[in-house]
Amino acid sequence: MLSIQDFAAEVRARCADGAFDAQDLARWLRATPIEPASLEPFLRFVPGRYTRHLISKNRDVELLVLCWARGASAPIHGHEGELCWARVERGRLRFRSYREVSRTPLRLDSGPTIDGGPGHLDGPADIHAVANLPEFGEDAVSVHVYARPYDECDIYDVDAGTVQRVRLQYDSEPPPAKPSLRGRSRSGSPTSLSSERPRDDSRFF
Ligand SMILES: [Fe+2]
Repeated sequence: MLSIQDFAAEVRARCADGAFDAQDLARWLRATPIEPASLEPFLRFVPGRYTRHLISKNRDVELLVLCWARGASAPIHGHEGELCWARVERGRLRFRSYREVSRTPLRLDSGPTIDGGPGHLDGPADIHAVANLPEFGEDAVSVHVYARPYDECDIYDVDAGTVQRVRLQYDSEPPPAKPSLRGRSRSGSPTSLSSERPRDDSRFF
């Protein structure tokens, strides 16, 4: 069992320079649990939506903790052709995958729906929607690995027949690295952005 910081370091090492085997990485992600206590600093549940907490990002790979309040969901979205995994750490999430048949008019085929509890690894995802259904009855937490990172993605609104491009945002980020002269480093403690950057809550994915 690894702390989230050691887990992130191992994922960075495995993804360095983009030279990794996706099946090997998926096997490792399935087999390597994360110490729940190490996730605690990143847990923040906001009614009606999920929150995104950046753990680590470099040019090869990004790790996030997502906190899903009961009933929170992510609309149908794409992943820019990158490899994206989500592992459930707490609670349950419903993953539904889709395939784009045409964009004009917008048509998606829907694929299987999978409900995953702790340890369930979803991905690599192409187009999907994720929900912590109200009937699941509890908050949920997931860890996401994006190899490589991306800053924008497409959101599919099937009812409106539209695809919207959105910029991804964080609810917290690690503090900038400082030269450490004395012990008492707080590296790993997130910096909340919520009071600094008011914004439209619908634009989080
Ligand atoms: Fe996703």
